[in-house]
Amino acid sequence: MRTVYLETFGCQMNELDSELVRGHMESLGYDFTEDPAAASILLYNTCSVREQAENKAFSRIGLAGVRKREGEDLLVGVLGCMAERDGVDMLRRHPQVDLLCGPGELDKLPVLIDNAARAASLDGSARPDPMDRVALAGNTSRRSAALSAAEGDLESLDLARAFDPERAAGRSRSAYVRITRGCNKFCTYCVVPHTRGAEVHRPPDGIIEECRRLAAAGVQEVTLLGQTVNHYRYTHGVAVTIGGDERPQVGPGLRAFRNEILDDPGTTTFAQLLARIHDEVPELPRLRFLTSYPRDFGDDVLSVMASRPRICRYLHVPVQSGSNRILKLMNRGYTVEEYLEFVDRVLEHLPDACIAGDIIVGFPTETDEDFDATKAVLRRVPFKNNFIFKYSPRPGTVAIDRFEDDVTDEVKRARNNELLALQAEIGTAVHASWVGREVDVLVERITKKSPTPRVSAVDARVTLGRGLSIGLPASAAGSGPDADSPHGEHPDKETPVQVSGRTSGDLITVFDLPSQALASQSVGTIQRVRVEDSGPLLLRGTLVSPPPVQS
Ligand code: SAH
Ligand code: SF4
Ligand code: F3S
Repeated sequence: MRTVYLETFGCQMNELDSELVRGHMESLGYDFTEDPAAASILLYNTCSVREQAENKAFSRIGLAGVRKREGEDLLVGVLGCMAERDGVDMLRRHPQVDLLCGPGELDKLPVLIDNAARAASLDGSARPDPMDRVALAGNTSRRSAALSAAEGDLESLDLARAFDPERAAGRSRSAYVRITRGCNKFCTYCVVPHTRGAEVHRPPDGIIEECRRLAAAGVQEVTLLGQTVNHYRYTHGVAVTIGGDERPQVGPGLRAFRNEILDDPGTTTFAQLLARIHDEVPELPRLRFLTSYPRDFGDDVLSVMASRPRICRYLHVPVQSGSNRILKLMNRGYTVEEYLEFVDRVLEHLPDACIAGDIIVGFPTETDEDFDATKAVLRRVPFKNNFIFKYSPRPGTVAIDRFEDDVTDEVKRARNNELLALQAEIGTAVHASWVGREVDVLVERITKKSPTPRVSAVDARVTLGRGLSIGLPASAAGSGPDADSPHGEHPDKETPVQVSGRTSGDLITVFDLPSQALASQSVGTIQRVRVEDSGPLLLRGTLVSPPPVQS
């Protein structure tokens, strides 16, 4: 069996897709490597959202072409949004690419690989239908007989995830669970509705079952994924298989968010889904979701969050622009006033909530006044962070056809930098407001540098929270991976080790543990930390030892 290198670009959806592809292929016997030079199958799971994202993937595809021309026996596959957007043009312009697989077709990838391997072993004239090596939603009508026969079920990929607790530990015991595929919003700048297709909601029972399995495998945090998660809506009894199982279903669109349908007992809303997962999977310590759409985010969701402590106090709700004129050109469907009203409602229900966002600068026709309005929103909303992007015209979108990309790159860059500086100020204030408080941190990794003063191994009698008692006597403190200090010092001079993780509000938090062994064992656990200090993007704290166990 050949060895596979899989590299992922783009959003969390793609990260999840790559994990599912890998699990699927490993179950078929493929080995994966982190080293592209050691692989004979190179797969790139690509993103089209901005030109820069595509350029990164193109440079990888170029390097793969060089290796092929030098005579290496390689199979090169382009998966994800770029495959879907470029379509078979990609094969014409980049002949080193052997197969294309859109994000909605990933269950067919093993068949594509077999077909591509067969084609590569034949001489040009004898090669079978090139459509055997292409699975794109936009091409279903042209699908070859071989692929139609292999028509699988994308839903099964999510459900059958070969979940590996070892890998989860490496990824800080955090997992993504898809609730909605695709997007119906058609913001004028955005390729996602074109690459991921129409909004399709998964049945709640399947989602809950997946969360339960992940929690049983030791996952500490599930992040529900959808382009506009709060538009999740599943109507029962309309999409059922012969066996009685519910099927994923196309979303009802904005119509459903007028109140008449909201209280339909045959419907599971996003608020109800959150409540069910929280209540039916009590062993899951953290539940969060990405990305929220500022429209139609009802008080029902906020009340469910407020009454359920294991739902994280974190909302990622992109505002995109502070100018109503630009929001309208973007087809975002809300005004700045509505956005601010929403933020006020969030903070009223959840005073501890942390809010993050996305902003696009230099959208066509954006004036200094429009940009000032965006700065005003930043000053008004306590954003913990904002992802700031320069507008990038995308082929196939309404904006590229309708509006000239008339803001120069120089102006885009200047606005981008100005917003970054303003966001740093706001982020500094938001993080500073946490100093002196205690937070629960899901530890994700050991950070490289190990700063602060040394402590003796006697201090290593630390018990990490949540029942994970690893109080170590001085002699055992040296039993971790770095037990023997490189300079042959006595272990009681062990250097403290800094770990990093996130709060329920997604605030990055760093703190020290007395030894490498304790630090390693803390990864993937939730620890109580007192915040001592802060910066624009993080909190610094000290571990709060849990109270002694009462006898
Ligand atoms: N579904 C999410 C966002 C998905 S894309 C939402 O609607 O909020 C992630 C972010 O990329 C967007 O929020 C937007 O800020 C940015 N983005 C999308 N298309 C872009 C483009 N053409 N140019 C620049 N930024 C873009
Ligand atoms: Fe793109 Fe808008 Fe859909 Fe977000 S909501 S994925 S920005 S079209
Ligand atoms: Fe990129 Fe596709 Fe995600 S375009 S942002 S990978 S949905």
